[in-house]
Amino acid sequence: MELSVVPRLAELLKRSPLDMKSVVSDAVMRLGVDRILGEVRKTLFGLDDVIKDILSGVMVGRHVLVVGPVGIGKTTLVESIAETLGLGDPPYIEVACHSHMTATELTGDIDIAVALQSGLDHPLAFVPGPLVMAHGKFLILDEINRLNPYSQAALLQALQEHYIYIRGFRIRTDFILLATSNPVEYSGVYELSEALADRLKVVELDYPEKEVLKFVLQWKSKELVSHLALSVPSLFVDVMANLFAILSRDVKLEVGPSIRSAIYSLSTAITRALLEKREPSIADLKREVVNNMGSVIRGTFSSDREKAEYLAKKFDEAILMSRKSGEQWKR
Ligand SMILES: Nc1ncnc2c1ncn2[C@@H]1O[C@H](COP(=O)(O)OP(=O)(O)OP(=O)(O)O)[C@@H](O)[C@H]1O
Ligand SMILES: [Mg+2]
Repeated sequence: MELSVVPRLAELLKRSPLDMKSVVSDAVMRLGVDRILGEVRKTLFGLDDVIKDILSGVMVGRHVLVVGPVGIGKTTLVESIAETLGLGDPPYIEVACHSHMTATELTGDIDIAVALQSGLDHPLAFVPGPLVMAHGKFLILDEINRLNPYSQAALLQALQEHYIYIRGFRIRTDFILLATSNPVEYSGVYELSEALADRLKVVELDYPEKEVLKFVLQWKSKELVSHLALSVPSLFVDVMANLFAILSRDVKLEVGPSIRSAIYSLSTAITRALLEKREPSIADLKREVVNNMGSVIRGTFSSDREKAEYLAKKFDEAILMSRKSGEQWKR
């Protein structure tokens, strides 16, 4: 960030309150819901209902938490909505949350040495954090469930009082929070405090239905191989969608498959065959699925080998499903 755009402390102390529900609603009404849906569809497909759930929240000043399994489009979705509504330049401030994040990483801090030497209004005397910089826009907290309780408390204060306190200075901040998180049963995450959770509208993202998933897989994997003049066989996409259906309803899995890993399995299977100057086969796809998805899914497996065997077996079941439904295929 350029030094000239870093706000000085004196300016921040004079900030006036902003009515974020009007700011957001004006942007939605100006663009129109069809244009917003159309813009988001350029990167994500099949999420119109979820987008409307999010918009209806933020238009009344409600903060929103998008919850869903790994690699299902949560981050892309909130970024795309914030980008489309374009509340400022940049249109949103994003933080990749982690468990060691301190409250001052969120609020910002005063550098005492610079402040003493050059005064509080020296551009480096005060380094504003994301909670301050998000004033008037969206604040995206990606993977908010990784925030430890201390940082959660700093965030709560900003949401509750619209002020943050930095070494006694009180700074106004109004923003709309768009957060993402995995479900609570995933490991390596903190539960959100009740007070914080109460301030968030939860919108759930789930695996898309088969036809939507097939469209997404075909579109995104083709995007990755089109520069090599390669295409993605529809049989591969069908098998992958069937594999999703099988895995996502298997109670043995604590963490299911990700759309991201499916897209990469499809595209790397095809590229791999290109390197060997041959047509891709379903066996290439199987190999890539075991490689790419093995690191994502989690369940009661005693070893990596057992997990690989599980995936291979489920993949064979998915092939059978495709065969039954009449997809043309080639070994
Ligand atoms: N409905 C969809 N339409 C198009 N692409 C999708 C869809 N769902 C997921 N993807 C693709 O899957 C990939 C993963 O998306 P993203 O990183 O936003 O997921 P996430 O849920 O935030 O993942 P994580 O849990 O790992 O943070 C992206 O490449 C995205 O484009
Ligand atoms: Mg994400």
